[in-house]
Amino acid sequence: MQTFHEKTNITLKKYYSEPQFIDYTTQPSSQKIYPHFYRRFNLDEYETLSFIKNFAQATFTKQYGKEHVNLRTTPSAGGLYPCEIYIQIRKVKGLLSGVYHYEPLQNALTLIHELSNDGLEVYFEEFTTAQQFIFLISCVPFRTVWKYEDRSIRYLLLDSGHQIGAVNTACNLSGIHPTLSTNFDKEKLNALFRFQNKEYFVAALSIDLGQEANIKPLREALPFVPACDYYLPHPFADDFFTHYNKEAPFSLALPSLCSLINQQVIDTRRSCRAFKNESLSFNDFKTICTELFELSTSLGIEIFYINNNIEELPLGLYKNVSCLKEGDFRQKAQELALYQALGAKSAATLFFTTSKKSAYAKSTILSAYLAHSIYLKCSALGLQCSGVGAYFDEECQTFLQTSNNILYLICIGK
Ligand SMILES: Cc1cc2nc3c(=O)[nH]c(=O)nc-3n(C[C@H](O)[C@H](O)[C@H](O)COP(=O)(O)O)c2cc1C
Repeated sequence: MQTFHEKTNITLKKYYSEPQFIDYTTQPSSQKIYPHFYRRFNLDEYETLSFIKNFAQATFTKQYGKEHVNLRTTPSAGGLYPCEIYIQIRKVKGLLSGVYHYEPLQNALTLIHELSNDGLEVYFEEFTTAQQFIFLISCVPFRTVWKYEDRSIRYLLLDSGHQIGAVNTACNLSGIHPTLSTNFDKEKLNALFRFQNKEYFVAALSIDLGQEANIKPLREALPFVPACDYYLPHPFADDFFTHYNKEAPFSLALPSLCSLINQQVIDTRRSCRAFKNESLSFNDFKTICTELFELSTSLGIEIFYINNNIEELPLGLYKNVSCLKEGDFRQKAQELALYQALGAKSAATLFFTTSKKSAYAKSTILSAYLAHSIYLKCSALGLQCSGVGAYFDEECQTFLQTSNNILYLICIGK
């Protein structure tokens, strides 16, 4: 996996020698829709399942000329939304036990497989009991590859991490606490859902029903339904997911991301387009970062940050709580973030990194999972933030004086 990271570095040479023209009229569709004759269930009519809307529903509509773009509960690189969500549900009053596909813009569940004595539990290493919910997250690489080419593999993992964060938050808000797992037979499930290398399962979150059950493999494969209106092949992304399936799987009882969470926090979460260059109080910075630093360390993720404008803290480069070098690095932060003003005008620009020896996909997914907590805390505190996936990798490493892989940047401020 390490080589996939290195091959997708943005270097100064690439930046200056490969200007990209993107024809926005060719953007593939960013929502999978099963055919009209499938049974649909409007989630507004199911009180006990109303938390699912917070997984991905549209919370804001942006107008670009004549075009409307629906922005969702999750941030997404380029707003391309490569993730799809499938949900196996058992024993929910008024709903057939089955495998459903979630349609975020319609806030509906489409029944794609009714359960009999079969179920998805069979494909998971650790399940000995029936699960009430299994939330499966997949990626549709072409949606992202269309714009970002090979670099997409990173954004697909990061978007998945945010998607996991959004699902977990939605569950926590309704009092349930899922376990995250990549420990399932992804290849088998990709085949059973007939993804045909156009879509790939990445991770699952589950809630145990606590009942022993003799569950059988799925009775039949599902039909192929395209997740985009058209596709172009991208062997690099296919190769990446073949390797992803072989990376050591993991399971994690997910820690709650944000104690300040409520419906309004989710509805108003947005990425900052331009900071006003105002300072951030040290207290707010601590509220956002104290828990985050502890948690990231336990997950093998090392966070550096450039303090551009945090009150009561000397300007400089920090790693967790230690100052590595004092100085005004605003210009440097902008350069590193591919000259994006977000880097310099933020009060703090955070760098999520991990050792080259760490499990690459796991660290990347979990970085974005943690970054999702920053988004939510900023939303709760009336602050701004933005994820930044476009940065000069080697220049970041040199400036931070680390050989770690640089996985993700987050800018926080006002
Ligand atoms: C993985 C990832 C990378 C991103 N990279 C950038 C970036 O480099 N520059 C930027 O301005 N926004 C970036 N964003 C923010 C997206 O543009 C934003 O999430 C998207 O337009 C949807 O808007 P919203 O977050 O306000 O809903 C990134 C978001 C994610 C999740």
